[in-house]
Amino acid sequence: MERTQVGIVGAGPAGLLLAHLLHAEGIDVVLLEARSRDYVENRVRAGVCEHTTVALLRDLGLADRLDREGLPHGGFSLRFDRADHRIDLAALTGRSITVYGQQEIVKDLIAARLATGQAIEFEAADVALHDLDTEAPRITWTDRDGRARELRCDVIAGCDGFHGVSRPAIPAGARTFYDHTYPFAWLGVLAKTPPSHEELIYARHERGFALHSMRSPDVTRLYLQVDPAERLEDWSDARIWDELAARLSVDGDFTLREGPLLEKSITPMRSFVTEPMRYGRLFLAGDAAHIVPPTGAKGMNLAVADVRRLAPALVALLDKNDTQLADGYAEQCLRRVWRAEHFSYYMTTMLHRAPDADPFADRLQLSQLRYTASSTAAATSLAENYVGLPFD
Ligand code: APR
Ligand code: PHB
Repeated sequence: MERTQVGIVGAGPAGLLLAHLLHAEGIDVVLLEARSRDYVENRVRAGVCEHTTVALLRDLGLADRLDREGLPHGGFSLRFDRADHRIDLAALTGRSITVYGQQEIVKDLIAARLATGQAIEFEAADVALHDLDTEAPRITWTDRDGRARELRCDVIAGCDGFHGVSRPAIPAGARTFYDHTYPFAWLGVLAKTPPSHEELIYARHERGFALHSMRSPDVTRLYLQVDPAERLEDWSDARIWDELAARLSVDGDFTLREGPLLEKSITPMRSFVTEPMRYGRLFLAGDAAHIVPPTGAKGMNLAVADVRRLAPALVALLDKNDTQLADGYAEQCLRRVWRAEHFSYYMTTMLHRAPDADPFADRLQLSQLRYTASSTAAATSLAENYVGLPFD
């Protein structure tokens, strides 16, 4: 049987960053990933990094490309009533965010880990967790050469996303799930065309929400609120552009730049929290423990926030047999998680059109948007959550 200190399941942002943080402290790690390197590096996800996320990557020496290619943004637009209302993040909070695709961070973290001679077990199949309530939990899997493998760990970190095996390995009586689904999904496209505006635009329109974002000076990222039952094959490129143009239209100067679509996908929206984020020697981090709808751009940032707490907790546990940080891990993380859950819910419900919205709900929504755009107090609340609250 193989042996390590921390077995990490999942090489998304949470698992990769945890591996870096632990390796820097001299902790031995084995990192397992179900998919291939090519797949995880090309999976298109969100792209907003809070300043605390950027600062952590810089501290670890992992932000060279992010600093070169990431796009710093000091504000964004709320678009409603056919006009832009700018939220000046920099003026309201003194901080900004950086637009840099999640898969670019994943690429950078993979390259940096491999450069230190550390391995990643890609294409690990049939991953299963055992003996989690003992001091010697195990992971079994079939590796990419078809060999059955078994790894004895001191601790397992479940960083395998929302559809992974870690969360379901917790017995039903030992956890509580909090779940909320929304009556809409996001149809996302990546377009080979320069952004139509220098900043992100969150648009509330009678036809539904739309978002204008970007990846680089030549690539635009756009989203449309759609019914979760919509099928991608019913959305031709022309239909997508027409709908985006309608929902992003303003009175005044704005032209939506069209271009070839490089990727299209539909993602359902959900809020979900697991409490506690631990069972015995299994610790959950990132999407494995909680998900948010993408409107607040918090998913990856929460994953990063979890592992920045988990790493020192595991170091204290493994090096000094000090359980204090590990015992406080879930509660500490869940405070930030629930703040982000509320913020994401608030952004989502303020900007999306519910299929059953009555005129009363419509007017409340517009009133909320007008208040946010005109009150420094309301805008500051939005802005400080958006750029990311500080760590205590
Ligand atoms: N065994 C090993 N790896 C697995 C398994 C499994 N059984 N199941 C899933 N995985 C892998 C996935 O292929 C993925 O690479 O775990 C990884 C989880 O990564 P993410 O889904 O990116 O989750 P996380 O690292 O928590 O990052 C959260 O991802 O979904 C977005 O919006 C979310 O931005 C947020 C971020
Ligand atoms: C993105 O660029 O993919 C993006 C930006 C902001 C969001 C969600 C996604 O709120």
